[in-house]
Amino acid sequence: MTRTSIPTTGDKHTALLKQMAGFREGDADWHGGKTWSLVYDGGDKHHAFLKKASQLFFAENALNPMAFQSLRKMELDVIHMSANMFNGDDQTVGTMTSGGTESLLLAVCTYRDRARRKKPWIVRPNIVLPRTAHPAFNKAAHYFGVSLRFAKCDEHGNVDVKHYKRLINRNTVACVGSAPQYVTGSVDPIPELSALALKKGIPFHVDACFGGFILPWLERLDIAMPEWDFRCPGVTSISGDIHKYGYAPKGSSVIIYRDMSYLKHQFFISTNWPGGIYASPSLQGTRAGSTIASAWASMMAMGESGYISRAKEAIAAHRKMKAGIEAINGLRILGPSTLTVVTWAADAKDVDVYAIADILSAKGWEVSRQQHPASVHCTVNARNSPVVDDYVADLAAAVEHVRANPDLASEGEAAMYGMMAKIPVRGLVSNGVRKVMEQMYGASGEMPDLAESDDPMADMVQKHVLPMLDKARDLRERLTGGRT
Ligand SMILES: Cc1ncc(COP(=O)(O)O)c(C=O)c1O
Repeated sequence: MTRTSIPTTGDKHTALLKQMAGFREGDADWHGGKTWSLVYDGGDKHHAFLKKASQLFFAENALNPMAFQSLRKMELDVIHMSANMFNGDDQTVGTMTSGGTESLLLAVCTYRDRARRKKPWIVRPNIVLPRTAHPAFNKAAHYFGVSLRFAKCDEHGNVDVKHYKRLINRNTVACVGSAPQYVTGSVDPIPELSALALKKGIPFHVDACFGGFILPWLERLDIAMPEWDFRCPGVTSISGDIHKYGYAPKGSSVIIYRDMSYLKHQFFISTNWPGGIYASPSLQGTRAGSTIASAWASMMAMGESGYISRAKEAIAAHRKMKAGIEAINGLRILGPSTLTVVTWAADAKDVDVYAIADILSAKGWEVSRQQHPASVHCTVNARNSPVVDDYVADLAAAVEHVRANPDLASEGEAAMYGMMAKIPVRGLVSNGVRKVMEQMYGASGEMPDLAESDDPMADMVQKHVLPMLDKARDLRERLTGGRT
């Protein structure tokens, strides 16, 4: 039940805290290491320290950097320390943001606005990027009227560089690569992609939201990967999330540019408001002092040695998990498996990934279901170390159970995910998801039961669209004699 009004008189603090602790009962168990990627945890001591650090700047606001010079100093330190990690130089500049999505929104808007200045003849700006790039780019494109030209990737996440090159045209205002991309954890070939952009005088953004705060340390541990940062001459900006492998609390990321000639297009200035001249470096207006302070504190308290030792632990847990999953009959690993992502898919027809995912969910694991191909993503962290064996054992048992009970693929959430992945008319899927969101954010705020959807769209798809697709497939097989 949601509350519909605030209490007439305020409740007691102790009672409220107790009540709030109770709210957490059904939450994903990140303390027990059962989540992958939602929580990046630097350890209990680190957490306790960050709480104190953020309390110190609990009420301060970075909206006006003149008023709170303390925040300005810490933000600058964070930018310069990050720029140094990304092999920038004394010209490298940037701002903090509220997270990866804001950093990417800003990159897209900045490059669109830069092109408006420098190439005013471009009326339909586009950005070229690998198919695996994060959907925050789609959001940015939607908000800022930019179209996206996606280069093909294979199922391991490797981008087709020739295709990427062909997509760059006169209306391209920026090119993008990820380090790494989230889906399977591969680092895009930034040297090659950024060289293509440089040759054409187009800016190149590296989305290192996921990897920016771990790749530098993995490189120190001699893990091979392509160069991905300002060492590549074509790279003009990099985003990196401190709230992921920087182990800061949620709400902090950086966007760093090679020099001010790019960053200046990010600034927003309004001069005619009766309230005064308003200038803002990023999307937010008011900016919490506590997130800047805790990001600063996290980087300073971890230091290189802290980050390197956590990277080592994550890598060890990752290797163990990968080896365990590779040994399971019926599964295979997608992607390069050199970083901290394990993405597994089915290797055999009698093993339905989404049915396995349902079993793991029921056992309390947080499961990130992916599509094209059906797969499950796990980002491995030090916190997962003690439970890796349990996960592998649960996964192996789930595979056997699904093999013995093939009907599970058409039950529960597995049926829904299977259907969503197959429907070729993506507008139908989008409508279905919008219905779910309307329910979640509607007046009742109820969480929909995905397995028991009474959505007429889903029913329609189930009853009419999928059988139609099956018929079309049969017909094609008959006409081609099974040749593809
Ligand atoms: C590669 C990549 N870019 C961007 C983002 C978006 O970050 P956020 O969820 O902090 O907005 C993510 C999140 O996982 C990511 O993996």
